[in-house]
Parts: sequence; structure tokens; C-alpha cells
Amino acid sequence: MNRLPNLMSKIQGVDVAQLPQDQGAQAELLRLTREVTTILEGPVNRATDLVFKPYTTVAARIAVDLDLFNHICAASGDVTSKQLANLTRGDELLISRILRLLAATGFVDNTGEDEWKSNETTQAMAMPAIEAGHRFVFDVLVSSAMKAPKYLSETKYQVPTEPTDTFVQYAFQTRLPFFQYLQSMPSLMHDFNLFMGNTMGNRQYWHDWYDVRKLLLTGFDRSHNSVLLVDVGSGKGHDMLAFHQAFADSATEVSFRLVLQDLPPVLESVSEHELPAGFEKMPHDFFTEQPVKAARGYFLHHILHDWSDQYCIKILRCLRKAMLPGYSKLLIHELILPNSGAEEIQARFDLVMMTLSGGMERSRTQWVRLLEEAGFCNITLYEHLDHDGIIEAEVPNH
Ligand SMILES: C[S@@+](CC[C@H](N)C(=O)[O-])C[C@H]1O[C@@H](n2cnc3c(N)ncnc32)[C@H](O)[C@@H]1O
Repeated sequence: MNRLPNLMSKIQGVDVAQLPQDQGAQAELLRLTREVTTILEGPVNRATDLVFKPYTTVAARIAVDLDLFNHICAASGDVTSKQLANLTRGDELLISRILRLLAATGFVDNTGEDEWKSNETTQAMAMPAIEAGHRFVFDVLVSSAMKAPKYLSETKYQVPTEPTDTFVQYAFQTRLPFFQYLQSMPSLMHDFNLFMGNTMGNRQYWHDWYDVRKLLLTGFDRSHNSVLLVDVGSGKGHDMLAFHQAFADSATEVSFRLVLQDLPPVLESVSEHELPAGFEKMPHDFFTEQPVKAARGYFLHHILHDWSDQYCIKILRCLRKAMLPGYSKLLIHELILPNSGAEEIQARFDLVMMTLSGGMERSRTQWVRLLEEAGFCNITLYEHLDHDGIIEAEVPNH
């Protein structure tokens, strides 16, 4: 409680007029208000609340199945549980009990006895991608993670590192890696793709905040190789397409090639004529020798967090052998967690990666250690908002 006056005066000092334009200030205000909430809740209430918190997620998951968020949003004003029961064929009392919890947590407004109204969060919950996220995360990730305590007690609390033996495989009794297993569940696969949708969300592209002209284009030497960037595990290539658009002027001035590398089925889904001149699709397994030698940059976006250190080192060693000392740069685009004091959302992502594939989100120290172990030098970390980062590294001369 004695921290409260200091926190309150910091909150009062926030320039509210600047907030809409200032993401950093928004994040700081959110952090301060959470700290105030923690103090006001009190330690015992907070600890007890966590015990029952999953019920809120369960209520939301049921509401998604009953399409309650959409029905409430579609109503012109208040809607009763009875009306919702008629629309969904769910039990009126069940609907009231589910919505009571969701109203208490702000996902819908409770305007009278058994009466409900949408708010902005209800509208967000009704978005198809968010509904898909609730189905996929609950049915696959959370239900796998529920088995984690039993799995970990059986493995004597060792970190899972094999993509064929982590919580998903344990829960679903399979030895298939996550993505292969997902293919056997088409509706959840559809939900996964819908939820991931635009993988960038609200994030800015890396080239908007990493100084591409100074760090990559300056010094680019076509006599080594005309490839400026190889996107290793490119997916459908959204990063390179955006990069090309942003540096189209440089493309005409400097003229460079961009290479998309992924597994054959992924690249087959990208048609050649969707790609501008200078692009090349190159099916490639990143656990094998890198065929493009001495490119200026090897870019990996959301690749290494899928894998434990031992697999990352295999991927990185294949790249190291292709890189030209003093010229080629490794560019890893991932979260860079602070060494202490990570945010809840990023710490959660780390456990999501553990659940999916035995992968992990890494801290500053963990990135540097991994790259040193894989034989890289000149390691530089560039950090942007919400710990989005680029880890840059080179190969030594010997
Ligand atoms: C999380 S996605 C990231 C895609 C893209 N870089 C992005 O940020 O949107 C991981 C990608 O790695 C690819 N991948 C998985 N195993 C691979 C392998 N052995 N060789 C090459 N690509 C692989 C997947 O097909 C997928 O496109």
C-alpha cells in the first residue's frame, strides 16, 4: 500500500492528450495501472483468484460455440437470455450463468436481470479470427498444457526439447510434430490459419525500424552474390514482399535479388507471377547445407523460437558455412525478452512454444549464448516496441 501514492502521482503525470500517438506511454500507463490493481486486490485475493481464473476462459469458449458474442452484437439494443436461448437452442439458465461471468470480466455489459448488451470487447470477441483463436488455443494448446504437470513429473522436470515429444504429443497420444498432427484435424487447422491470419498483427515491419540503408544496403557487393537477402523459412514471403515495396527505389538503384526458402508445399502455394522481378522461390530444408553462398543477409523470422537450442544450433551451423566473413549478416527477427522483468504476454508465448514444439522465446543473454555456441561473432541486438527485435551476427574469419 505504501507504493500507492507514488504510483498515483505517476499516473496523474501522464499527458493524456499525447497518449493516442505514443505507444510507449500507453504501455507505461498500462503497467502502472496494473501495479495499482495488484496492490488494491491484495496478495491473498490475487493468489486465490488465479486458482479460478481458467473458468473465465471456459465461459468464453462456450459462448463462442453458442455464437453468443455475435448474437449480442447483432441485437439493436439489449437482448435477454430468453431471446438468446431461442436463437441458439441453448438452455436459458445456462446462457445467463455463462454471461454473468463474462459480464463480470467486461466481455459483455449486464444491463438488467438476464439482459445483455454489447460493448467494444464483445465486438472484438465476435471477430472470426478471435473466435478461431479461442477454439484453437483452448482445444489444442490449453488442453495440452493441462497435461504438462503430469508430463513434467514423469520426465523429472526436464525442459522438453524434442518437437515430437512435448505436451501436445503427450496429450493427444501422437508422435507427430505439431504441424503434421494439426493436418489431421482440418477444422482446428482452419482455425489456426484464421487466427494467425496476418502474422504481423499490429507490429511494424522490421525494415521500418532496423536501419536497412546503413546496415545492409551500404556495403552490399554484387560481386560476392547478387542476393541481398535470403528469407530462410519465409512462409509465403510477406516479409520480403513488404521489404521490396519499401526499398523499390533502392532496387532500381542498387538492383538486388531476394530469395524465399521454405519447404516445397509452402512455396508451391505461392504463384510465380505474384512475385515481383528479382524474387526467387527456392525449396530448401534449413537443416541441410545452405545453397546460397555469400549473400549479404540471411533473414529468419519466427523460425528459431519453434526449436530448442540443439535444433537451432543445427540450423545456424548450416547458415554459418554459407556466410562470408566480414560481409554476410545473420538477421534473426524474434522477441528479445529482457533478462528479468518480462511482460506476461511474452512469458506466456514462451510456454506456448514449449507446448507446441519444445521451442522457446529467448532473453538477451540466451540469444547471445546460443549464437556464440553456434560460432557467430559481432552479435548486436536491436530492440523495438514490445520486445520485438533483430539479432544481428556475423561469422569470424577463421
Ligand atoms: C512460424 S512460420 C514463420 C514464417 C515466416 N518467416 C513468418 O514470419 O511469417 C515457420 C516456417 O518455417 C517453415 N519450416 C519448418 N520446418 C522447415 C524446414 N525444415 N526447412 C525450411 N522451412 C521450414 C514452415 O513451413 C513455416 O513456413
